[in-house]
Formats: sequence, C-alpha cells, structure tokens
Amino acid sequence: MGSVCLVTAPIDATATSAWAELLAHQAGFSPDLREWFANDPGRVERLTFDLADLRVDLSKNLATDDIVASLVRLAEQTGVAERYASMLAGEHINTTEDRAVLHTALRRPAGASPALVVDGQQIDEDVQHVLARIDAFAARVRSGEWKGVTGKKVTHVVNIGIGGSDLGPVMIYEALKPYADAGIEARFVSNIDPTDIAQATADLDPETTLFIVASKTFTTLETLTNARLARQWLWTKLAEAGVIGDDEASRTDAVAHHFIAVSTALDKVADFGIDTENAFGFWDWVGGRYSVDSAIGTSLAIALGPEVFRELLAGFHAVDEHVRTQPLHENVPVLMGLLNIWYSNFLGSQSHAVLPYAQQMHRFAAYLQQLTMESNGKSVRWDGSPVTTDTGEVFWGEPGTNGQHAFYQLIHQGTRLIPADFIAFVNPAYPLEDGGADVHGLFLANFLAQTKALAFGKTAAEVEAEGTTGALVAARTFGGNRPTTSIFALSLTPPVLGQLIALYEHITFTQGVIWGINSFDQWGVELGKQLAMQIAPAIEGDTAAIDAQDASTQSLLAYYREHRN
Ligand code: F6P
Repeated sequence: MGSVCLVTAPIDATATSAWAELLAHQAGFSPDLREWFANDPGRVERLTFDLADLRVDLSKNLATDDIVASLVRLAEQTGVAERYASMLAGEHINTTEDRAVLHTALRRPAGASPALVVDGQQIDEDVQHVLARIDAFAARVRSGEWKGVTGKKVTHVVNIGIGGSDLGPVMIYEALKPYADAGIEARFVSNIDPTDIAQATADLDPETTLFIVASKTFTTLETLTNARLARQWLWTKLAEAGVIGDDEASRTDAVAHHFIAVSTALDKVADFGIDTENAFGFWDWVGGRYSVDSAIGTSLAIALGPEVFRELLAGFHAVDEHVRTQPLHENVPVLMGLLNIWYSNFLGSQSHAVLPYAQQMHRFAAYLQQLTMESNGKSVRWDGSPVTTDTGEVFWGEPGTNGQHAFYQLIHQGTRLIPADFIAFVNPAYPLEDGGADVHGLFLANFLAQTKALAFGKTAAEVEAEGTTGALVAARTFGGNRPTTSIFALSLTPPVLGQLIALYEHITFTQGVIWGINSFDQWGVELGKQLAMQIAPAIEGDTAAIDAQDASTQSLLAYYREHRN
C-alpha cells in the first residue's frame, strides 16, 4: 500500500453546508454556561468522555448540542476520517515532501496484524528491530555493562538535539523523572547559544558521560555545532585528566565510548566519527515533531528504562486506536480539534492555553508549541492554493498554580477569548502533608476553582451582595463564559503521558485537515536558516557580506562589531 501522492485539492471547509450552519450559529451567539448548566442536567454527562485513561470533560466549552452537531458535520464534509485512514495506510499525505506520515506506526504493538507495508518497506519489522536494539542498548547502559573509556559506568546522558529532537525527550524526562531509577541523569542541550552546552557540562565527569547526538537530518547547524563542542570538551577533559593522549586513535576510542547517535542519515553519523553500530535509525516518514516515540526517545529508554518507553508507546497507541475506531461524534481528539475550529474561526480566539496542574509537566506547553504551530502555522493548503480561513492558533501555557499568579487575570477578565485546557491528576507523584492537610488536594482545589470561575464568573449582584459598592463592583465582576476543557487522569504515568501527547497530535491533525493544510512540512523555518548562513560572515567582518544586508541589519552589525569583547 502507499506511494500515492495526494495532491488533489482539499475540500474547502468554508464552502460546506456545515460551515454555513456554523455561521448561522455564530450570528448573535450569546453563550450562557450558567443557564446551560441550570437547565440541562444531562450536559456534563453528554459531554464527558473516557479516552483510554483520560477523563475528558468538554461541558464547560461554549457549544450547544446543535453547534457540536454542526462541527461534527464539518469533520464529515471535509473528510477527516478518510484523511486519517490515508495517513494510517501510508499514503503520501505529506505532499510537499512526497512522503508518508507514519508516526502512528512507531507505536503499533509487536505482531500487529495485518502487517504494515508501505512503499515496499516492512514497517512493523523495521520499527520492532530498532526498538529491540534500543532496549538492549539501554539495558547495557543502565546495568553498567556499557562502560566509558576508563571502564566506568555512565551516570549522565546528554541529549544534543533541537526542535523535535529535543522538545519531546526533555518534556517527557521532566514529566516522568520519578521513574528514573538507574542512577542515570539525563540532560538536554539544544541552543546554539554556547551557554547551553557550557552549563550542561560544567559539573560533568567526562569519564561517566554519554552524549546522544539526536538529529533526524544530521545537518542541523545547532546540533552539529553542539556535538562538535561536546566532542572537543570530551577530548580536552580526558586529556587534562591524563586519561587519553591527543593522538587520533585515543580520540576515536573516546568518541566510540562516549557518543552515540540517532538519525535517519546514518552515513552522516559515520562522517562525524560515531560508529553506526552505536547509532539508532528512523525514517523520513517520521516528522521531527512527531518523533519522540522513535529512536529520538533513546535518552528516555536509558534514563527511565526501556519498559517505561514501551509503556509510553502503548499509551500513544491506545489513542491512535480510539481515533481510528470511534465515530466522529464520540471521537475525543476530533471533538477537541473541532472546538478549536469553532473558537478560532467563528469566535475570534487567536490563542489557546494549556495549563497542566502538574509541575512535572512544565515543558508540556513548549513541546506543544512545536507540535501545533510548526504543523498548522501555514498560509497555503496541501495543493499550494491559499487557505480560505485563519489557521494555527498560538499555543502557550505554564503549570498551575504558577500561572494563576501571572497571566490568569487576562483569561478571567481580559477582552480576548482564550480557550484553555486544564490537565490534572488525581494522585500526586510526591504525596506531602502540611499540618495534616493533603497538599495535592489543595492543588486540585485550585484546578477545580479556576475552571469553575472561568465558566460561571461572578455577577455584579453577587459582588454587591458581599458588600462591595461603587466602581469596585465592576472591577470585581467576572463575566464567566470563558471556555475550558478539563482532562483528568489517575496519575502521571508513562501510558497516560503517551495518551496526552497523542491526543494533541490528533487534535492538530483534525484542524489541519479542516483547514486543508499539510501539517507535516515546515518550510517556514527555512528562510531564517538560510539568512543566518549568509549573515555569519558579516558577523566576522566580511565587507561584501555586510554590504549585502539591509540598513537595519547593517546598523545592528555595526553595534555588535563596535562593542564585542
Ligand atoms: O525547526 C525545523 C526542524 O526541521 C524541526 O522540524 C526539527 O524537529 C528540527 O528542525 C530539528 O531537526 P533535526 O532533527 O533534523 O536536527
């Protein structure tokens, strides 16, 4: 199956009858969650879903049953289910790169039937083969069988990568740190700002450090620069300690013991000097921002354990199966994607907050920013024609309760509509009591309080009833009707985290299909990369390169050259 490049024109969502229905709903739309809740005792039950281990409550969204029905018709009329089936089958839905999009294949269980064969590749076999190699390698590092050049066990792995080769691993590592049980700490270096690698290595012992160079293309400037800096650091530190000489053979041996790689370009890995025996591959049908479940997760398999990595994959797969099998009106990622369409295309919202009530998820919003915004920040559709409506909201967020003391004010009382997803867990990773009171319970009370305040607000009459008078009444009034989705799970476990990530992948997919977007390319990052290479000589004073710049860039270059140390 596969090898079909789908450059057929997307269905224009704005030309469907469902879109016309939604425009009719939009006209004079005046949501009233207080009234909806008071008059409709079945609303919560109807709009609460179990998605694998996630309890998802959509009832505090600004949508009536009629609106939800029109949104579901929009998904039907724009072919969301058909496009999903095309993706799973390996059709080349990444049209601009003529590639299949098969991150879902990375989490198919061993022995899944029928076997997936795409473009002549035995996908399942290849995936399982790499997974088995990662398992075995991770086990060797964790047990101490894999040794550094002086025979010591690895205590630190440093993942060097950026974008999809960084954000997923670091987010998951932070979220699942309580599972790190082998005495191995993971660190992550991404930025070409030399501060990043300098700080990450400052207190490390080169004899017990293992670097993972993670890059799909193995051409990314930041990653290769940092990899070279790390290699130099290793050689210098080992030489200073008198452990290796500065001859070629010693240096090669040091790299062999302290560097591994993850990439689709194993020839380039070899050029860098890393033995491809110590490299883990993946394939061009895995997009960078969808790659944490590929060998890009090797740092996780080492630090958290291969079992944890497999449990994560199982979590992803559970949601893939839900999306594949559930009808659109009960398909949670599809419904959440549709609600986002409602807010951004009909109610004027431009951003979407994701607010985990879990400190461990402090990198989740950063991860989602690449997933959602690199995927759907597009102005043309998959056939090259212009989009017919706004696309791609700004995703952002911070864990509660920190955000409550920073930006929630604007969500509660500002003039902009900001739909927000709250994510919380019944049980804490660290159960602590304060004077006999369960601190996690207090934390959860805040999650519940915020979603309640946003939905139902506080009327002027209620404010006055508390004794407030005059101008303060307006200031203390909350309009309510600020939409939220609550996602609740028992604990932040590996499968639950996999489910959460897959949920947002499929929300992103749903929106992309409705907008007619190829969510799997990222041409928008290319221009900046090209220009940086052109400007680099100007930084060093190359006159021709300076002359080639615009006046503003020249002025900034002059400031830099005048003041640099
Ligand atoms: O930012 C562009 C991008 O290509 C991302 O899509 C990707 O995740 C990142 O750069 C890193 O790319 P690579 O894994 O090839 O180094």
